[in-house]
Amino acid sequence: MRALAVEMPQKKSQIPKEVQYSSSNYKIYRYEDVSSTNKVAKQLARRNDGDKVVILAETQTKGKGRLGRRWFSPKGGLWLSIILRPEIRVKEALRLTFIAALAVVETVKTMYGLKTEIKWPNDVLINGKKLCGILTEASVEHGIVKFVVIGLGINVNIGLELFPKQLKSTVTSIKHEVGSEVKRAALLTNLLQNFEQNYTLLQQGKWTVLLKEWKSFATFLGKQVQVTNPDEIIIGKAWEVDTDGALVIKRDDGVLKKIISGDVTLRQLP
Ligand code: BTN
Repeated sequence: MRALAVEMPQKKSQIPKEVQYSSSNYKIYRYEDVSSTNKVAKQLARRNDGDKVVILAETQTKGKGRLGRRWFSPKGGLWLSIILRPEIRVKEALRLTFIAALAVVETVKTMYGLKTEIKWPNDVLINGKKLCGILTEASVEHGIVKFVVIGLGINVNIGLELFPKQLKSTVTSIKHEVGSEVKRAALLTNLLQNFEQNYTLLQQGKWTVLLKEWKSFATFLGKQVQVTNPDEIIIGKAWEVDTDGALVIKRDDGVLKKIISGDVTLRQLP
């Protein structure tokens, strides 16, 4: 699975109608129902030069996950996409996914006291169950990043019984962890504030500091893992996440393999 997808220009479609502003200076367009907030965000970004724009939806009919998967997006979740126009090189776009995951971890910890972990490249987990997924897509022309869309899906006020059978044992939600529903508006405001802080640090050249912070939640590091991607399966120790955000695996034969996309699963030792 690619952590970062480069998309091609597509057809026009409708423009968002409703606008509200949050305290964090992000302009928020709120929809009841869309196919995918990432799709709407890309359409909007191609039309104008808006920066720090958020597309938010109550439900998505075709929520996109990584590797072409569907993202289950019923009412009660926080489904949003952030449009940014950073001055970065293509290979640095992955950094935005990292700072978004960090913002989720920080927000969930300070607001609800929940202890989370990050699984490379961008899953936020609680006790091994997925709370949030992130899909970052960049529009690149002639090797230059025109805009980036960071799609975040957070399972907020969703009872686990609502998830499809095949997902039930692998997911969690804030409602499930806290034991009651929470205020999504406050969660969004805090999330955008934390994201903005991280984004500012990134723009100030503090990537090393941010990556160090990210690693402090990356509990898979040092463990035996299996990485699956469309080309291969790699087994070994999760050795390092390098400065490009790539995962380095140390195979049992001692060879270090750098991986830029894939699904990580922890391996049970006998
Ligand atoms: C993953 O597979 O883990 C990534 C899931 C990303 C889901 C979010 S929900 C909001 C945004 N819109 C989409 O269609 N996908 C992302």
